Amino acid sequence: MLTQLDELHTQSLAQLKQAETTAVLETWYKETLGRKGSIYLMTRQIGSLSAAERPLFGQRINKVKKELEAAYENRLAELKASELQAKMEASAIDVTLPGRKQRQGRLHIATQTLRQIYAIWADMGFQVYRSRDVETDEYNFELLNIPQHHPARDMWDTFHTTTPGVILRTHTSPGQIHAMREYYPEPIRVILPGMCYRYEQVTARSELQFHQVEGLAVGKNITMTDLKGTLTDFARRMFGAQRQVRFRANYFPFTEPSAEMDVECIICDGDGCNVCKYTGWVEILGCGMVHPNVLRNGGYDPAIYSGFAFGMGPERIAMLKYRIDDIRYFWGNDLRFLEQF
Ligand code: PHE
Repeated sequence: MLTQLDELHTQSLAQLKQAETTAVLETWYKETLGRKGSIYLMTRQIGSLSAAERPLFGQRINKVKKELEAAYENRLAELKASELQAKMEASAIDVTLPGRKQRQGRLHIATQTLRQIYAIWADMGFQVYRSRDVETDEYNFELLNIPQHHPARDMWDTFHTTTPGVILRTHTSPGQIHAMREYYPEPIRVILPGMCYRYEQVTARSELQFHQVEGLAVGKNITMTDLKGTLTDFARRMFGAQRQVRFRANYFPFTEPSAEMDVECIICDGDGCNVCKYTGWVEILGCGMVHPNVLRNGGYDPAIYSGFAFGMGPERIAMLKYRIDDIRYFWGNDLRFLEQF
């Protein structure tokens, strides 16, 4: 029996050495030291020994058990370490690889232009007044002196909603009425920036959405001279101190008299080029003295108050400044375009 035990001992140790993975090692443990393992089975044979032989055998088997346990623990530690090592090697990250470049964001060219415009008007004492994108027919047209069925409505092709009388604003001018009704009887100096929408064929020169920056000044003794002086100052701050401007008479239902302001072409300095169609001038805004009916609709008595208003397109201004030849780039979301600014 003792020789049998010794044999089992050496055999088990040999098998233990051959276990190359923790999984194999666990099987070994079960079959050797487990509840039905070979050592256990040998323990049970103790009954067949004589009473004199039993203590010696008992001692020996306990010793063998202890040794095997210790050998198992050692092997387990070894295998665990080498398995961890292998795992680390397999999933190693190369910290010397250069990282991925972070793309830096920037403001959209339209936002940059808007902010430039705000800064100039802020300097001249004009506050930003926000008004809604979704308007009523009444505010967008009627209160601006454009009655139903008046041919002037043709100037603004309109997006209608399924709710009668509710439309997307075609210009920022309805904000004039909102501002007047809010501020009456105080004098007003505001700019009204925002997105406008027109149901138009999209071409290189016209989009169905674009920004406008409206301006409104209302008070006592405001004259056409104030309009011209203020807008000329704006143009010089925006396009350069030497820039010439000119006003051409025009028609808008909500201003009287009405005009358009041109600046000397910023591409050719007035010499003539394809941007200014060889005239030397480019149009940048519409303007005029607030029509008495519009003042009245805003709550201001035209016998006491007067005012001027203007509306400009920041995308158009950016197009001139940076020689962008197609307005569709602005909302095309092409990074190759947007990253240039
Ligand atoms: N609302 C006009 C347009 O969209 C521009 C404008 C604003 C003209 C204010 C005069 C005064 O064309």
